[in-house]
Amino acid sequence: MTYVAPNSIQARDIASVVHPQTNLVKHLADGPMVIERGRGCYVYDDNGTEFLDAAAGLWCASLGYASERLAKVAYEQMRKLGYYHLYRGTTNEAGVDLAEKLLSIAPVPMSKVLFQCSGSEANDTALKLVWYYHAAIGKPEKRKVIGRHMAYHGSTSASISASGKPDMHADFGLPFPGFLHTEYPHYYRHHQEGESEEQFATRMAEALEALILREGPETCGAFIAEPVMGAGGGLTPPRSYWEKIQAVIRKYDMLFIADEVICGFGRTGNMWGSQTYGLQPDMISCAKALSAGMQPISALLVNQRVFDAMLDESRKLGNFAHGFTYAGHPVTTAVAMETLRIYEEMDMIGHVQRVGPYLQAAMARFADHPLVGEVRGVGLLTGIEMVQDKASRKLFDPARKVGALVDAHARKHGLITRFIGDRIAFSPPLIITEAEVDEVAVRVGRALDDTWAELRAA
Ligand SMILES: Cc1ncc(COP(=O)(O)O)c(C=O)c1O
Repeated sequence: MTYVAPNSIQARDIASVVHPQTNLVKHLADGPMVIERGRGCYVYDDNGTEFLDAAAGLWCASLGYASERLAKVAYEQMRKLGYYHLYRGTTNEAGVDLAEKLLSIAPVPMSKVLFQCSGSEANDTALKLVWYYHAAIGKPEKRKVIGRHMAYHGSTSASISASGKPDMHADFGLPFPGFLHTEYPHYYRHHQEGESEEQFATRMAEALEALILREGPETCGAFIAEPVMGAGGGLTPPRSYWEKIQAVIRKYDMLFIADEVICGFGRTGNMWGSQTYGLQPDMISCAKALSAGMQPISALLVNQRVFDAMLDESRKLGNFAHGFTYAGHPVTTAVAMETLRIYEEMDMIGHVQRVGPYLQAAMARFADHPLVGEVRGVGLLTGIEMVQDKASRKLFDPARKVGALVDAHARKHGLITRFIGDRIAFSPPLIITEAEVDEVAVRVGRALDDTWAELRAA
């Protein structure tokens, strides 16, 4: 039990706040880590201790932790029009500017933009539109949604149902019926002896097709996936995976939702993960780096096929009966628009294309570390997997919590990472420099060494 001073922020937090993705019992005993301020890729706790954040918060602080320029835009927008909604045909310039911009940079032709406040809501909207679309085209039974094991699409009831995270379903009575999950493309962990990436990808596509055939293609409405799996551990797809998966989706006339919440806006070295991997989605959800994480905003882009069906429903029902009070909030859209301007001015994509390979090379050096089984990534996203035995890829006993141990040692060395089981995902702010990447690598090395020493001593 950690000592918590009376009336400190820690004590007040314990008494008042419920934290997402936190062991609430442990939190009552340990209290929170208080983040007081940030600058560039660094954040500072209430003791003034500095942390290099190699997770960009939750993959979103693309421009780091403070911005005069975005602050001014938010301030000016609040003075001019601090709130209005988009209901019943009302609009404002900030929202229109951003929608036009998103359509102009979309990876495939898209027709319209729907705004929400979070990635979960964007995916939730996409899932509702799958049902709406198929109802509109006279196939209301084509409602089942297929996601992937280990995928994460958000915490609303539907978006977590589409996610393949049993720990997030447990005792919530989820997933809802009609949400199915297929194999996920973690080549290193799940390939069979002698199986190439291409053969593995074929097996993944065959598993998807078998699931669709078992369920009945006439009942399968959509496939939802992240181009690179973030909360699954920073998993990049094996060669030819997307080509083969998309052929199956097309064959059974299912809609394809690309969840670009993490990949969108440069993470993989292109504006969209869909460009990096040649995806042709019908809907694209995006959030996080859309506003550099500085305002809660998400967007769902829909293609003409989907929008035509929505028009048919308005002809039939007289209304598009869906929406959120803060959708297209002018402060969030103005800040997002300015964020996209900043990306263009600083050539953010070019920057990621230069620094990304530097990060991958720095991390690749850990492949020789006795704890490390796999290092794999793209752009400014890398996953490192710890194993007990490199030759057989055997994992540690989960009870040893090796991922959490590496993370704890990293904290001690002033580095914030994200662990998922025994995998550590790195997704630093997109502005990270080569010198900062070197610093990340030094601290990762120390954390791995300390963990290795502790495990051997145990
Ligand atoms: C791929 C992906 N989709 C959706 C979400 C949910 O976004 P939010 O937490 O903004 O609801 C996340 C969050 O991490 C995510 O990683």
